[in-house]
Amino acid sequence: MRQIHLAGFLLASQVVHSHAVWRHPRTELGFLEPEYYQNIARVLERGKFDLVFFADSLTMPDTYGGSFTESLKYGAQGALRLDPLVLATAMAVVTKHIGIGVTRSTTYYQPYDLARGFATLDHLSRGRAAWNVVTSSRASEAGNFGFDEHLEHDLRYDRANEFLEVACKLWGSWEEGALVLDKENGIFADPSKVNYVHHVGQWLKSRGPLTVPRSPQGRPVIIQAGASNKGREFAAKWAELIFEISPNSTAMKSYYQDIKTRMAKYGRKPDTCKILPAVMPFVGETETIAQEKQAFHNELVHPMAGLLTMSNHLGVDLSQYSLDQSVEKVEAQDYQKLLAVVQRLSLDKTITLRDLGKIYGRSLAVPQLVGTPIQIADKLEALFHEQAGDGFVISPAYLPGSFDEFVDLVIPELQKRGLFRKEYTGNTLRDSLGLN
Ligand SMILES: Cc1cc2nc3c(=O)[nH]c(=O)nc-3n(C[C@H](O)[C@H](O)[C@H](O)COP(=O)(O)O)c2cc1C
Repeated sequence: MRQIHLAGFLLASQVVHSHAVWRHPRTELGFLEPEYYQNIARVLERGKFDLVFFADSLTMPDTYGGSFTESLKYGAQGALRLDPLVLATAMAVVTKHIGIGVTRSTTYYQPYDLARGFATLDHLSRGRAAWNVVTSSRASEAGNFGFDEHLEHDLRYDRANEFLEVACKLWGSWEEGALVLDKENGIFADPSKVNYVHHVGQWLKSRGPLTVPRSPQGRPVIIQAGASNKGREFAAKWAELIFEISPNSTAMKSYYQDIKTRMAKYGRKPDTCKILPAVMPFVGETETIAQEKQAFHNELVHPMAGLLTMSNHLGVDLSQYSLDQSVEKVEAQDYQKLLAVVQRLSLDKTITLRDLGKIYGRSLAVPQLVGTPIQIADKLEALFHEQAGDGFVISPAYLPGSFDEFVDLVIPELQKRGLFRKEYTGNTLRDSLGLN
């Protein structure tokens, strides 16, 4: 029977999609400490999640007012981010089964450096590494890596395609059995099983071989999240897991169908890529308790925090508008972008920027699911059966409490229905995802 796959969503930061995370009384303020992340990994592993996954970006948000001042003051998304690849190691050493996914950009790294990092993580986790491939959407990332200009959107994907080819060559540069470790004869490795790569392409050059032997999975599980036409093509070609944000089931189903159809072009069977739309659950022993949790959380979002992140996501400087101004009064060149957000969230264009910031900062358009464990399981089951996804990315509203509640209350209900594993089978993340 087809079963649900689950990923826990994280940022190495004070906020996640929810901008109230760090302010929530049930959140432990440990986001600079290893134990905070290790604890989250343990909770999700207790719930038999397939993986925990870190989004990331490489710049401090400064679209609003042309400076990071307000973003830092209110703790907008991106005001603080640790390096998730380092954290992944800390999480790997205290867990045995859960996969660990980390975002890295193909625009600002070199394949050698990146391939080495993920091969190392795959060794240290004994086959549980995943890489979320992004091309970097923020122009300001360029300035942190020695470039004056951000590469144009479609060219970033061209580079990403070549980047994946080079990374795969590097991961393949050690064949199986290359490491001999014959103590008696003093033979360390078999050089005939380790190869130069000699890649010279349009964007990248790499000589190889990697200095890291072939890892348990051979290469990390490839995750992708791209919404544009080029992004979807890239996902259809490479992704084994897709993280997606759609506001409702109609949009989820349409995305799901689109990607699975595109995959055929690359000779891939639909089941070789798992598509996981994100949801933010609020679970309560009764429906009223769940609704109170949601209301309390949503009220905690500072409107400026949400507005600052929106400014950054849209690339629109909203500092010139009053918080009490309605969206429809925003100047023409910015209006269309804001209107798209308003429509996505099914809001009215008479809404003020203050209210829009508060609503956007709740979950960045990730749908909130509210109810008893049975009601939440009903919703997930319905979405799963109507092919809105192969599972879900669970986005927390407070940490680690949101994950604890989901694991303790919803997971048993999904297991009872035969929709979710009771134990891990197999050894690697690819095994858990049914990709082998
Ligand atoms: C749901 C979703 C999540 C994303 N998460 C990240 C992220 O964590 N870091 C990042 O740099 N880009 C992220 N992106 C951006 C894309 O991966 C991609 O690099 C960029 O948006 C351009 O792709 P697109 O135009 O195809 O969406 C995300 C995009 C989507 C749709």
